[in-house]
Amino acid sequence: MSLACIILAAGQGTRMRSSLPKVLHHMAGFPLISHVVQACEFLKADHIFCVLAPDMASVKAVVEPCECVIQTTPLGTGDAVKAARDSLLDFEGDIIVLFGDTPLVTPDSLQTLRDRKTATNAAIVVSAFLPDDPLAYGRVLADDSGVVSAIVESADATPEQKQVRLCNGGLMLFDARHLWPLLDKLRNDNAKKEYYLTDCVALANAAGLKVVVETLPVDDVAGVNTRLQLAALEKVMQTRLREKHMLAGVTMLDPDSVYLCVDTQLGQDVVIGPHVVFGQGVTVADKVEIRAFSHLEKVSIDMGATIGPFARLRPGATIGAGAHIGNFVEIKNSSIAAGAKVNHLSYIGDATVGAKANIGAGTITCNYDGYSKTRTEIGAGAFIGSNTALVAPVAVGAGAIIGAGSTITQDVPPDSLAVARERQSHSEGWAKRFREIQESVRRIGRA
Ligand code: UD1
Ligand code: CA
Repeated sequence: MSLACIILAAGQGTRMRSSLPKVLHHMAGFPLISHVVQACEFLKADHIFCVLAPDMASVKAVVEPCECVIQTTPLGTGDAVKAARDSLLDFEGDIIVLFGDTPLVTPDSLQTLRDRKTATNAAIVVSAFLPDDPLAYGRVLADDSGVVSAIVESADATPEQKQVRLCNGGLMLFDARHLWPLLDKLRNDNAKKEYYLTDCVALANAAGLKVVVETLPVDDVAGVNTRLQLAALEKVMQTRLREKHMLAGVTMLDPDSVYLCVDTQLGQDVVIGPHVVFGQGVTVADKVEIRAFSHLEKVSIDMGATIGPFARLRPGATIGAGAHIGNFVEIKNSSIAAGAKVNHLSYIGDATVGAKANIGAGTITCNYDGYSKTRTEIGAGAFIGSNTALVAPVAVGAGAIIGAGSTITQDVPPDSLAVARERQSHSEGWAKRFREIQESVRRIGRA
């Protein structure tokens, strides 16, 4: 059975109070709508359409290569689905309608709806949930066997219907053959003057079609309308991700303080300290230890490396097997080969550090002259003394040693010693004479 998904995202999302379209706000490192698209992709949907408002080019850019269709005016969820009609007119199979602001939807939930349709031969499967506070949701009017006669929007419900606790989760599955004729019959004579997708249920009943309900976990259909809800859903998502990684063999000393992205990849026996933040695109191999308060984004870390505490790994950092990246070290667009050590207070940017090189405390690669970035090459086994400035472009040969406090502006040959600082001089007795003069000046002042 073929599958098409229609993700509605043309609503304005005014309650976010944001210049950004609601569905572009992030959860676990990715835009809300990307999570929904991913769930559809996981089911290998044959078509995924996003319904957008005309001014949402920024959303289109994010969801590509999904197809986007435009709802010119937001006339309601039923009208929004119609925007995909021309593209799906000849489609036969299941059509699932999702909301772009419901990011915790799982492939499992979608599959459950499909299974229910197969089992019951229904024309529509409605998703429902039991919220603590049903106030704003559409009420699902169903009998004990799960056959649904109607969904009544909260604004249109009678006091008696408002007593119903079973609420519409928004997700709906349609047999494609019936969807378009039902949408044609929608009218907007209701409280909000909108074309409600939910009215398809009563219309289906009138046409002798079967509608059933499937109750899903509350989180799977929870929507984001405000930033408070965004934060609440982020919490749920983070818990899901932490649990997934811990069950797969990752130790987290304080799971609640570890922030993950949906695409974070962690190997077996990885140990993560408290307050570690993973941005997008992090891959960590087996047996890596990431100590407290480290921040990582678009980096890959090879087997057995040690990171942090307080390390910042920025985009393009590649850390080799067994390497050590210590406290207050920032690494950007650089590869640190196996066994190398950058242990204290350093900035390594646009550099290549060879295997087993030792980068002393306070070493800085000066990679930027205000106009362009240039590279620093450090050979295998090189030893860079503390507080060295490496002014790029510059290369330090394999096995070379740099004296502490050097400012290196020329390439250093392999296995040589480079010292680039003022030679130390002594002035015998100078300090003693200095103190005597100061003391006598003070005595004269007091007299
Ligand atoms: C909808 C359901 C309600 C359900 C609730 C669950 C309808 C009529 N009501 O109500 O039964 O309990 O979701 O959260 O479907 N959208 C468009 N174009 C429009 C209107 C909406 O694309 O013209 C999109 C929105 O961007 C949003 C989604 O559809 O992603 C839902 O719209 P919203 O207005 O939030 O519906 P609710 O009032 O929450
Ligand atoms: Ca909503």
